[in-house]
Amino acid sequence: MRVIEAFRAAFGADPRTVWHAPGRVNLIGEHTDYNDGLVLPFAVPWGVTAAVSPRDDRAVRLLSLQSPGGPVTISRHEDAQGWTRYVVGVLAMLDHRLGEQVPGADIAIDGDVPRGAGLSSSAALEVSVACALNDLHGLGMTPMELALLSQRAENDFVGMPCGIMDQAASALCQEGTALFLDCRSLASRAVPLDLASQGLRILIIDTRVHHEHAGGEYAKRRAECESAARKLGVAALRDVTDLSGALDRLQGAERNRTMHVVTENHRVQALIGLLRADKITEIGALLNASHLSLRDQYEVSSPELDVAVEASLRGGARGARMTGGGFGGSAIALVAEDRLDSVKESVTAAYAERAWQPPRFLPAVPAPGARRLPL
Ligand code: GLA
Repeated sequence: MRVIEAFRAAFGADPRTVWHAPGRVNLIGEHTDYNDGLVLPFAVPWGVTAAVSPRDDRAVRLLSLQSPGGPVTISRHEDAQGWTRYVVGVLAMLDHRLGEQVPGADIAIDGDVPRGAGLSSSAALEVSVACALNDLHGLGMTPMELALLSQRAENDFVGMPCGIMDQAASALCQEGTALFLDCRSLASRAVPLDLASQGLRILIIDTRVHHEHAGGEYAKRRAECESAARKLGVAALRDVTDLSGALDRLQGAERNRTMHVVTENHRVQALIGLLRADKITEIGALLNASHLSLRDQYEVSSPELDVAVEASLRGGARGARMTGGGFGGSAIALVAEDRLDSVKESVTAAYAERAWQPPRFLPAVPAPGARRLPL
């Protein structure tokens, strides 16, 4: 494994432990996690591998195969920059949880999550490092505790007010299944996603566009949902039971956001129902409805995502939607095997017509969540 070789070359010994944590796509349940709602992500075959050894002192030396130059020694709490913030954030949250500073570490990182595709490379980085440190120091934290710690690192240290979906998917997913997660109770269940036996595939369409304002818009959506919940007198939009009554009491953006969140939770349950009834071929309409709601009510799509969805449907996809936070990143399309080429051609042609850079297509095969790799 090249991350072990890089570790040896930089730090002069074998790593004590090596963990891999994957990125994710979300099948359905978008912008519901921070509303205490329901999500259904699955892990992708790409992720981050962290090779780690403890140190006798408090220093943290970090090396990434994706960053030029040798290892950097980073300060534990302040002035972390760029990608190192995610690692320092995990260390800071561990210190906080343990009430003392965890020992220093030598860490080598290798990642293959396509950059900027909205496939949660940052969650993969946080979770891989959290799992490795948990293992190294015998902390006995559960996968969900590690996911929560990683989310806190991103919320409190990096300053991105994300929900729990990405970190939970990275820590808990199982091969061949999606993770049905209740983001309030944190109860979860692995739901079999047997696409191949039905001659189906999920195609990731990476628009290769990432709009810079995404972080600010995400925080704004979250604040709008919280404000709507306050006006409705509920703890979170998850608790809205009378949708039309709620909509009568809201206006503008808050009304639209509420409509999306409440109907999206219903769509997650409906999709779970279809999977249980062995009707995976029929989930396409729910994917389409989710996309329209994200585009029109939640306003987090982008022209590139809309064109990817519309062109893949024209090319014969059974359903398609943007996935993840939005404002660029990726869409997913549910496609019969014999339509894969026509879907790709249709999307490629639609992008070429607009003189956009060509999209990238990736097969989404439900992969295992975080795991220790043999040395
Ligand atoms: C980002 C966040 C998640 C979730 C999605 C939208 O990926 O990190 O917590 O809110 O957006 O569903």
